[in-house]
Amino acid sequence: MKKAKSGEESNESGASAPALLSMDSWLLALYSWFSSNHRTLPWRETRDPYRIWISEVILQQTRVNQGMEYYLRFLDRFPDVRSLAEASEQEVLAMWQGLGYYSRARNLHAAAQQIATSHGGLFPGTYEEIRALKGIGDYTAAAIASIAYDLPYAVVDGNVYRVLSRLFAVDTPIDSTQGKKEFQQLAQSLLDTTKPGLHNQAVMEFGALACVPVSPDCTCCVLQPQCRAYELGLVNQLPVKSKKTAVKELFYTYLYIHSDNKLLLQPRSAGDNIWKNMYEFPLIEADRLLTAEELLSHPLLEQLGELTLHPTPVDFTHILSHRKINVRFFQIEPNELNNTNHNSIIVTTKELHQYPLPRVITRYLEC
Ligand code: ADE
Repeated sequence: MKKAKSGEESNESGASAPALLSMDSWLLALYSWFSSNHRTLPWRETRDPYRIWISEVILQQTRVNQGMEYYLRFLDRFPDVRSLAEASEQEVLAMWQGLGYYSRARNLHAAAQQIATSHGGLFPGTYEEIRALKGIGDYTAAAIASIAYDLPYAVVDGNVYRVLSRLFAVDTPIDSTQGKKEFQQLAQSLLDTTKPGLHNQAVMEFGALACVPVSPDCTCCVLQPQCRAYELGLVNQLPVKSKKTAVKELFYTYLYIHSDNKLLLQPRSAGDNIWKNMYEFPLIEADRLLTAEELLSHPLLEQLGELTLHPTPVDFTHILSHRKINVRFFQIEPNELNNTNHNSIIVTTKELHQYPLPRVITRYLEC
């Protein structure tokens, strides 16, 4: 594993500092972010291990919004372990209808019966007992143990892989046996044992909302000062998977043509399956990005008449699941704005929000 540690505070005397002072600054930043940005979700309002268990199993297979509906319906019908254990399997499956992975519903039912018979209907209170329940693996056991009981077990899910691989620039493939072991150890070594439940949820939530898989907004990220991947320019390469999906590289030179609070937009060309039905700036797609000189002799610019071309473009890379898009934006101010390029429309900056714009365009506009 190649892991670069974040600014660890060492204590020359070797004496252990008070917990707050010795805590890595990334953790303080993460907790502060979590306290102001976390989603209010029904399973966050409880320490009931049964409810946390149900929420974690539902979240393994669906998005939060859809999962919420199932969670509320399921708990309305089966409010505790006993009611779930006593239900028929058919009824449990009916409540699960539409979520898929029906073996998970069967396991929930079987585990509830296990709790009823072996634990007198009381949800077990140790990691080992929880892990021994039907269908409960390392992740779910750690999530329940830490969130319900504050037991010191680190969770590792897709969000955690992403956050840790970037924060510490770890490039071991996450789908390898070695990677799984290393990330589990790393997550465990970083766990704040004074509040494991909050810690685990903060890392997962940060991965779900901020350190997202594609095009994370690192410029606004509260962990950017501690992020080794950001420092090394590796954010988009991490986490690494050994089984690679083919990525196509594209080169988009965009023209931000504007004058007096008006600008040119054009619908995304049909036939391309990215950003279908969205709008973008006039675009020159080629096998490389264009220079200012090349642009000046391009027919698109000639149609605009007298103009000022700002010679320094804004460049960035935009990553989609199967594409790496190198984008360059040139700012162009014509003396008179016209849409002789028949494909484009003139839009005021006030009207801009009415048009669906891909993230590359809004990223540029936010710069
Ligand atoms: N994803 C799955 N479980 C989660 C949790 N408890 N908090 C944040 N994200 C999650």
